[in-house]
Amino acid sequence: MRNSWLIPLAAAAVAEGKAYSPPAYPAPWARGAAEWAEAHERAVEFVSQLTLAEKVNLTTGIGWESGQCVGNTGSIPRLGFRSLCMQDSPLGVRDTDYNTAFPAGVNVAATWDLDLAYLRGRAMAEEHRGKGVDVQLGPVAGPLGRVPEGGRNWEGFAPDPVLTGQLMAGTIQGMQDAGVIACAKHYIGYEQEHFRQGSQGNFTVADAISENIDDKTMHELYLWPFADAVRAGVGSIMCSYNQINNSYACSNSYTLNHLLKGELDFQGFVMTDWSGQHSGVGDALAGTDMDMPGDVAFDSGTAFWGTNLTIAVLNGTVPEWRIDDMAVRIMSAYYKVGRDRTQVPINFASWTLDTYGNEYFYAGEGYKQINEHVDVRGDHAQLVREIGAASTVLLKNVDGALPLTGQEKFVAVFGEDAGSNPDGVNGCSDRGCDNGTLAMGWGSGTANFPYLVTPEQAIQAEVLKNGGTFSAITHSGASNTTIQAVASQASVCLVFANADSGEGYITVDDNVGDRKNLTLWQNGEATIAAVAGACNNTMVVLHTVGPVLVEDWVHHPNITAVLWAGLPGEQSGNSIVDVLYGAVNPGAKTPFTWGKKRSDWGVDVLYTPNNGEGAPQQDFTEGIFIDYRWFDKYNITPTFEFGYGLSYSTFSFSNLKVTPVAASPYKPATGKSKPAPVLGKVLNATAYLFPDYIKRIEAFIYPWLNTTDLKAASGDPHYGWPTSKYVPEGAQDGSPQPVNPAGGAPGGNPALWDTVAEVSVTVKNTGKVAGVEVPQLYVSLGGPNAAPKVLRGFGRVSLGPGEETQWTTTLTRRDVSNWDTVSQNWVVTNYTKTVYVGNSSRNLPLKQNLLLNIKK
Ligand SMILES: *[C@@H]1O[C@H](CO)[C@@H](O)[C@H](O)[C@H]1NC(C)=O
Ligand SMILES: *[C@@H]1O[C@H](CO)[C@@H](O)[C@H](O)[C@H]1NC(C)=O
Ligand SMILES: *[C@@H]1O[C@H](CO)[C@@H](O)[C@H](O)[C@H]1NC(C)=O
Ligand SMILES: *[C@@H]1O[C@H](CO)[C@@H](O)[C@H](O)[C@H]1NC(C)=O
Ligand SMILES: *[C@@H]1O[C@H](CO)[C@@H](O)[C@H](O)[C@H]1NC(C)=O
Ligand SMILES: *[C@@H]1O[C@H](CO)[C@@H](O)[C@H](O)[C@H]1NC(C)=O
Ligand SMILES: *[C@@H]1O[C@H](CO)[C@@H](O)[C@H](O)[C@H]1NC(C)=O
Ligand SMILES: *[C@@H]1O[C@H](CO)[C@@H](O)[C@H](O)[C@H]1NC(C)=O
Ligand SMILES: *[C@@H]1O[C@H](CO)[C@@H](O)[C@H](O)[C@H]1NC(C)=O
Ligand SMILES: *[C@@H]1O[C@H](CO)[C@@H](O)[C@H](O)[C@H]1NC(C)=O
Ligand SMILES: *[C@@H]1O[C@H](CO)[C@@H](O)[C@H](O)[C@H]1NC(C)=O
Ligand SMILES: *[C@@H]1O[C@H](CO)[C@@H](O)[C@H](O)[C@H]1NC(C)=O
Repeated sequence: MRNSWLIPLAAAAVAEGKAYSPPAYPAPWARGAAEWAEAHERAVEFVSQLTLAEKVNLTTGIGWESGQCVGNTGSIPRLGFRSLCMQDSPLGVRDTDYNTAFPAGVNVAATWDLDLAYLRGRAMAEEHRGKGVDVQLGPVAGPLGRVPEGGRNWEGFAPDPVLTGQLMAGTIQGMQDAGVIACAKHYIGYEQEHFRQGSQGNFTVADAISENIDDKTMHELYLWPFADAVRAGVGSIMCSYNQINNSYACSNSYTLNHLLKGELDFQGFVMTDWSGQHSGVGDALAGTDMDMPGDVAFDSGTAFWGTNLTIAVLNGTVPEWRIDDMAVRIMSAYYKVGRDRTQVPINFASWTLDTYGNEYFYAGEGYKQINEHVDVRGDHAQLVREIGAASTVLLKNVDGALPLTGQEKFVAVFGEDAGSNPDGVNGCSDRGCDNGTLAMGWGSGTANFPYLVTPEQAIQAEVLKNGGTFSAITHSGASNTTIQAVASQASVCLVFANADSGEGYITVDDNVGDRKNLTLWQNGEATIAAVAGACNNTMVVLHTVGPVLVEDWVHHPNITAVLWAGLPGEQSGNSIVDVLYGAVNPGAKTPFTWGKKRSDWGVDVLYTPNNGEGAPQQDFTEGIFIDYRWFDKYNITPTFEFGYGLSYSTFSFSNLKVTPVAASPYKPATGKSKPAPVLGKVLNATAYLFPDYIKRIEAFIYPWLNTTDLKAASGDPHYGWPTSKYVPEGAQDGSPQPVNPAGGAPGGNPALWDTVAEVSVTVKNTGKVAGVEVPQLYVSLGGPNAAPKVLRGFGRVSLGPGEETQWTTTLTRRDVSNWDTVSQNWVVTNYTKTVYVGNSSRNLPLKQNLLLNIKK
């Protein structure tokens, strides 16, 4: 029997036909692999000086709203080491002021530009650094975007693992080059908001939703971008709220120990999502390294770790090497990005913008100056404007309707989405409303706007510069008569419309995070219809979190242009003016598929529980076939396909060359790890008693014990249940462990990155203006279960009129491999493989068989 507490669960799961996550122990210990060597060495040296209570302090948050950041660890005053500061979000510094509101991840995806991803990552992290943040909580590869309604899809990039993976890596490198630890999240399978933490609204369920993912889909789809993040050296990874195969993400030894720390050889630390922890000893042994925000429930004053972790080490349940490894992993990330050189004092507070207030906000103690209002924006507005324009996808443009010339005598703007939020730019907490123009979604993945240039403001400024006239109708209740009186007179009618979504703790207009439909908000369709009915030069600009259904109106003969501008951040209006008036020639490509009807995607959010009061079960039966792969497999014609986007110029592709590069045979990793190192010495309970000199702060989490009676100190009625109930077999084993054959280096087996083919193609600008084209390389891996094609490479080429260039890229072994569930490794199958190149997933004029020269 492998262990006594998982097996009954497993037996029950199997009996009920439910997905099951196998146990995987012990938790791999950090080894300073590859570029981690020096940081690891310094971490070991640092941690070797620590007492048990000090190590516990590094791993445990001090409680919700007990410090100035959204998450804070304990400190080590003896060594002058302050609390570590974790702060949202993936698009800027959250909950503060004088910061930049950057474009969302989905916009970065639309640029298909690794340089912009890097620059944005670096700029965001510079701002976090300037506020005193140690860990910026981003970027996002979970959700990946399985369902178009998914509330937080926009925080991440695209429902394609290669596009997301490369942008994750670029973003992480930018962030960490700025001296801030990145946190790739949410690991893993976190694809919807409904039931992410269990009961929701009127539905009571015992546990959070289980996202049930098979091994092949896990490797080829959801794990893929996290592998890129690990290979890029990401310092931390956040485990998510949901369960995977009926085991919570932060308690899941298979996804954490086996996949992340074993196969992907991750050397940094795993942090829980806020209250994503569900057990103390269990999560420690399953591979979690840091508990955020530290308390069992917000401000309960109790903790799964803190005191309990000290006790668990004292009673021998959590081996000393495991707490040492947690601390070493945290400190490795700290040194790897150079926190010891770049850290500045925390100069903001997440819970108020008042200059003076309580450091211990929840307890109402520690009155002092808590906000210094440091302006960290630098010149980042320029970058925001550039990304905003570079991410605007031109979906329709009839007879060169765009760009505008500036000679238009009367420009009219329509739609609430063109205007300001009447309650102010930050009028709704965490952007939890859809008032005025949409420039980011809602939830924790947000930042306060320093200002928001609306389309109305920027377009009016442009029109005035050009000597034209201007009118804007920006309330969504305007009547047809009002709209058409203006529309019928205008030279050009610009309609702005949006669709919003966000994180599940906020509900906006009955959208519980996830969207309840795929249509427009703010009366968008009616506004478009009214304008198009009276104006034969109607152009629609969409600010949406993902795809919306446009099939009903997009072909209207009076609609001469359609643009998707996504969630562009604070420079929204300026970015769209750059594109509308041709200062920037659009080169963006849609990073998701636009179906004609909702059922086209084949999957949807699970809105109502499907397992009685048990955990809702979301089976990913579509496997690897999400977004374009699903449309391709079932031959469904979308309105706009993944990778599609027009330019003011035109481009041609020719001369595809695919050259095999000889590669050595794939070598599964072999060998064994060293034994788990033990750093320092655990004393008896007396050494960890709560010291007299510490004044307790209400609800604050400490590492110390009230009494040397461990059961009493724990205050846990279940304390000391038979060890077998808490300790899975092998979990305490610190002896050398076999290396995962698919692993061997951060990101996975290094042979996966061997080049197996070189691909080149000639791209020519066949139009009259300079522009950017995005060559896209897709591969068909062959075989009965393969997707018709999967994206494997892309680039961005900038060409003057008539100019041509050769775009080259390479394919790696990983790009041509499938996950083999039997050998538990990657294999290159014998099926015929094909390379396709073009400028969208459905415009691939060039194709060639992919011949490989891989030695057996
Ligand atoms: C743990 O952190 C808290 C909060 O910063 C601090 O007051 C306490 O002294 C620390 N304990 C140890 C053992 O360093
Ligand atoms: C929840 O139940 C209440 C009371 O029955 C009802 O008024 C409300 O509409 C329900 N909410 C949803 C989202 O179904
Ligand atoms: C220890 O953890 C248990 C839950 O496992 C909790 O009930 C108890 O309050 C915790 N003790 C302390 C001191 O936080
Ligand atoms: C050890 O301590 C942990 C944390 O308080 C507790 O949950 C567990 O039951 C204890 N185990 C034993 C065998 O005493
Ligand atoms: C702003 O949004 C909130 C929440 O959706 C709504 O209740 C409110 O009426 C809106 N305010 C304005 C001025 O539109
Ligand atoms: C879709 O949801 C939005 C936002 O809640 C709402 O404004 C719109 O009316 C809905 N569409 C339909 C067709 O019900
Ligand atoms: C407004 O005009 C459009 C297009 O002419 C029409 O489809 C729609 O029914 C009208 N709406 C109202 C409320 O009259
Ligand atoms: C297009 O706009 C013109 C006004 O310029 C209007 O007369 C015509 O009916 C519109 N066409 C449609 C199909 O709505
Ligand atoms: C719109 O109608 C006007 C007046 O009939 C005409 O001059 C113009 O060419 C039309 N524009 C488009 C884009 O069809
Ligand atoms: C802990 O160790 C100290 C010093 O070795 C000893 O005096 C004390 O009695 C021990 N306490 C317990 C609870 O065993
Ligand atoms: C430890 O002591 C503090 C202060 O008296 C008290 O608030 C807390 O509940 C105690 N914890 C346990 C687990 O008994
Ligand atoms: C490919 O074919 C060779 C020879 O028939 C066979 O030995 C090998 O196992 C096959 N490889 C795979 C991955 O199916």
